[in-house]
Amino acid sequence: MEHLYSEISRLLAPLHHCTALTGAGISAESGIATFRSKGGLWETYDPAIYASIEFFRKDPSKYWTIRGDFIRNYDSYQPNAAHYALAELGSMGILQAVITQNIDGLHTKAGSTNVIEIHGSLRHIYCLSCGAKFTAPHVPEGLPPYCACGGVLKPGTVLFGEQLSQDVLLQARQASATCNAMLVIGTSAVVQPAASLPYLAQQNGAKIIEINIEKAFPDADYFLQAKAGIALPRIVEKIKKIRQ
Ligand code: APR
Repeated sequence: MEHLYSEISRLLAPLHHCTALTGAGISAESGIATFRSKGGLWETYDPAIYASIEFFRKDPSKYWTIRGDFIRNYDSYQPNAAHYALAELGSMGILQAVITQNIDGLHTKAGSTNVIEIHGSLRHIYCLSCGAKFTAPHVPEGLPPYCACGGVLKPGTVLFGEQLSQDVLLQARQASATCNAMLVIGTSAVVQPAASLPYLAQQNGAKIIEINIEKAFPDADYFLQAKAGIALPRIVEKIKKIRQ
């Protein structure tokens, strides 16, 4: 495994146009449940009921059941070593963009600057009737919470069956098509369009480096089987030594 760290660090050290694609696995060490790995959210909750826009319109309490606590305790969730390592790769001029499927805001909290939240974020909540905007953790009580106008509140996340923001998707595609290496971190790589982004990068000549506790992306050039909170800080340290 040591040689793999050295090879990946040597590859990344001179680069200036890397992109990261992250999934729930990078936030696992911040105590946030993943979806499909062991103990994941979808083992307990059916996403068709708890995370689809169709069901939200019928019964918004379901989505608020799985996301209300996170929103109301938003400030208590902290980035882990993996988020901070990616932020450091950004300040070193190596990482140009972080495309994340996560809605927890932890990349931004860790200091990453160009964060492309393709599934939106729990940070902002909107009234579906009057458009009033709320910011976590400041939302009215209630399951679901309602606006003073009587409208129901919905977090600014992309539920199953909802369109992604085309502007955000364009940014993600551009960051994938122009990078010379993509770090694919903590994602099962099954949900589109995120799962197609590494292929877009590869078609444009990028090397794909997967960091995961189990292999999820079949066509990676490198696969580091490790927790993101262990692997990424080690890569940053090795790059610093190479750059000395
Ligand atoms: N370090 C690295 N990888 C990890 C860690 C860890 N500490 N813990 C878990 N993983 C990996 C798992 O092996 C798995 O491959 O993270 C991945 C998590 O996969 P999912 O739970 O499917 O999460 P994700 O890929 O982000 O899901 C994509 O699906 O339900 C939708 O909108 C939701 O954004 C989400 C999308």
